[in-house]
Amino acid sequence: MSEKVLQYNKPSLQGALTVPGDKSVSHRSVMFGAIASGTTTVEGFLLGEDCLSTIDCFRKLGVDIEVEGTNVTIHSPGMDSWQEPSEVLYTGNSGTTTRLMLGILAGSSVHTVMTGDASIGKRPMRRVIDPLRQMGAHITGRADGQYTPLAIQGTTLQAIDYNMPVASAQVKSAILLAGLRANGTTIVREMEVSRDHTERMLRQFGAHVAVDNGVVSIEGGQALKGTHVSVPGDISSAAFFLVAGAICENSQITLHNVGINPTRDGIIEVLQKMGATMTITPNDDNQAEPTATIQIATSTLKATTIEGDIIPRLIDEIPILALLATQAHGQTIIKDAEELKVKETDRITAVVTELKKLGAQIEATEDGMIINGPTPLKGANLQTYGDHRIGMMGAVAALVTDGVVTLDDAQCIAVSYPSFFEHVEAVRNN
Ligand code: S3P
Repeated sequence: MSEKVLQYNKPSLQGALTVPGDKSVSHRSVMFGAIASGTTTVEGFLLGEDCLSTIDCFRKLGVDIEVEGTNVTIHSPGMDSWQEPSEVLYTGNSGTTTRLMLGILAGSSVHTVMTGDASIGKRPMRRVIDPLRQMGAHITGRADGQYTPLAIQGTTLQAIDYNMPVASAQVKSAILLAGLRANGTTIVREMEVSRDHTERMLRQFGAHVAVDNGVVSIEGGQALKGTHVSVPGDISSAAFFLVAGAICENSQITLHNVGINPTRDGIIEVLQKMGATMTITPNDDNQAEPTATIQIATSTLKATTIEGDIIPRLIDEIPILALLATQAHGQTIIKDAEELKVKETDRITAVVTELKKLGAQIEATEDGMIINGPTPLKGANLQTYGDHRIGMMGAVAALVTDGVVTLDDAQCIAVSYPSFFEHVEAVRNN
C-alpha cells in the first residue's frame, strides 16, 4: 500500500494534456494481434498495469510482443499455433482481460488456468461463462465457474443466438470472440448498446461483423489479419481532468486526442446538460475510433438526472461525476446503475462513503445515488479500496478541499493512469 498525502490549497488549473491511451482499445489491440497471424503494430498503447497483464498472458501463450514506449508490436503465429502454457495466466486487477480471454481461450486448442488479484476473485464470471457453456465451452472454476481461478480446455464451439441480460461490453466481446471460432453465425442481442470497440476492431482486422439496432452478428471461421492500430486517448481518464477543470477556480484545460466514440461519450452529454463551459473540436483523421480536442473551463453547474440508456456510455465515469455533482446547484440523481456494485469494488458504497467523509451531501440508493449541492468539501483520510477510479476521484476532490486529503493507497491508480499525478502537476498553478 502506498499512502499519498495531497495538500493542494485550491489551485487553479491551466495548460494542455494528452491523456494516455484507451484501456479498452489497448487490451483489444493485443488480443486481436495475438489471434491474427502476422504482425500488428500499435501506437498510443496504454502502459497501465491492466494492459500489461494482457501482454503477459499472451507472452505465456507463445506470442512475441515487443514494447517500446507506447508502441507495441505483436508477431503472432496465429491462434492455432499458440503454445499450451505451463504457468497460470495472471490477469491482475483486469476484468476486461479475464472476461475477454475466456471467450478467446474457449475456442482455442490449448488448456489454460487463469486467475487474478483479490478484487478479480470477487467479480462475477458466470455472466460470460454461461453463454460460453451454451456454445460448448469447457470451463470450470470456483463456485461452478462464478469466480477465479478458472480452468479452460479449448474446444470446438457452436454458434448461439444470445439475449444479453446485462449491458456489458465484456460479455458481448467474449461471446463475439468465441463466435469467431464457432461453427455457424453467432448473434448477440443487446438491450442497451454497450461500447463497440470489439466490433470496430474486428473490422480493422479484416473480419465481417453486422450490427443492426443492437443486434450484432458474426460468422464463425473468419481469420484475422495483422494490421496497424492507433489507440485514442482514454475518455475515462480524460474524465478526471474534465471534472477538475470544471470545478477548480480560474481554470482552463485543453485535452488532446480524447476518444469520443459515441458508445463512450455519455460524460460529454452530461457535462453539457449541467452547463459546463466546454468546447469539442473533432479531429478529422478518419481512424476507426474518432478523437477530439476538448477544452474545459471553470463552470457554474446545475444538477441533473443520469439514468437509462446513457448509463453504459458513462458507467466508468460515475465516481467522478458524483464528485462533480457535489459542486452543482440542486439535486443530482443517478439511477439504473446497479452494475457499479460489481466493478473493481462496490462503487456505490465506495463513492458514497468516501465523498461523505469530505462533507458531501450524498446518499446511496439501490441502483445509484442522490447528491445535493453545491457543498464546500473538507480534507479527510480516504480509502481507495484498491480501485483506480475511486483513487482518482479522491485526488481530484483534493484539488477543491479545504485541508489535506490522504489516500490510503494511491498505487492502484497505475491500473489505468500511471502518469496521473504528473499530469496533475503539469496543469496545477499554485
Ligand atoms: C469494458 C467494459 C465495461 C467497463 C470496463 C471496460 C471493456 O465493463 O466498465 O472498464 O473494455 O469492454 P462491463 O462490460 O462489465 O460493463
